[in-house]
Amino acid sequence: MKRNTGLRPESMGSEIIRTEGLSKYYGDGEALVKSVDQVSLSIRKGEITAIVGKSGSGKTTLLHMMGGLEPPTKGRVLLDGSPLYEMNDSRRTKFRRERIGFIFQKFQLIPDMTIR
Ligand SMILES: Nc1ncnc2c1ncn2[C@@H]1O[C@H](COP(=O)(O)OP(=O)(O)OP(=O)(O)O)[C@@H](O)[C@H]1O
Ligand SMILES: [Mg+2]
Repeated sequence: MKRNTGLRPESMGSEIIRTEGLSKYYGDGEALVKSVDQVSLSIRKGEITAIVGKSGSGKTTLLHMMGGLEPPTKGRVLLDGSPLYEMNDSRRTKFRRERIGFIFQKFQLIPDMTIR
């Protein structure tokens, strides 16, 4: 997995998101899967970043942890300086609602509902 970065020079700013040793492991023993292992990165305001990697390399897991949706096994996520997983669930939910937008891979649509 790697990261491609594009900068919009007019709006480059301070650090908006940072991860430190971010890891997510599933299972244990023989069945241990290190979905994301020790990712430390920093993204600045105005920076456009793409996370690129083959299927199963951990992109969705990483984004879910960065977006406040999935607690990590180890490490931390700081959004504008606030450590997401050191907040309680309801504070994190409120923070996420106000600060983070997500477009899901599978859209998360409710199949039997229609908007008119
Ligand atoms: N809930 C889970 N339980 C066990 N293993 C999981 C779980 N979620 C993800 N994994 C495993 O973690 C690894 C990374 O999965 P992830 O979905 O993050 O990859 P991805 O890079 O987003 O793949 P894709 O390009 O197919 O969307 C895979 O080996 C996957 O099988
Ligand atoms: Mg994915």
